[in-house]
Amino acid sequence: MPKSKIPAKVLAELNRQLNYELGAAHSYRALALWCTDQNLKGFAAFFAQQANEEQGHANKIAQHLLDRGTLPEMTAIPAPKQDFKTLLEAAQHAQSMEQGNTQGINAVYETAVAAKDYPAQVLMQWFINEQVEEEAWAAEMVARVEAATCGGALLDLDRHIVKLLKGEKE
Ligand SMILES: [Fe+2]
Ligand SMILES: [Fe+2]
Repeated sequence: MPKSKIPAKVLAELNRQLNYELGAAHSYRALALWCTDQNLKGFAAFFAQQANEEQGHANKIAQHLLDRGTLPEMTAIPAPKQDFKTLLEAAQHAQSMEQGNTQGINAVYETAVAAKDYPAQVLMQWFINEQVEEEAWAAEMVARVEAATCGGALLDLDRHIVKLLKGEKE
């Protein structure tokens, strides 16, 4: 493979973000398992779908690196959080991961701007938009879980959560 055409700082940031996206996929799989264990099949399906989306984000960054003659560098992925006490805690965890992810995306973008790396800037603009959607459903999910104060409301929410949060994509 030829020497990378990507500025070193941008390359480091893209690799970091690639591994963060893989970590997010891993964390969403853990959330899906926790929900399945709690008989929350709707939330489990939603988080499983998110895990696949995060894998897709990682693939997008990996393909960008490969297209620019660079082998993506994979790192170890931290163990995901699995010990939630309530669905609200699980939902809040997903929200804080998305907020962290937005900061990571912004950091890549800022590095790409400073280095005048236009292809990486355009790639990150897609991710910046994506994070607006991700933070929107995360906030809606937390609000809906907070509003489901009795067992019946929670079961009803579980039945409809995929449609409520991702209805436009189905
Ligand atoms: Fe992502
Ligand atoms: Fe995400």
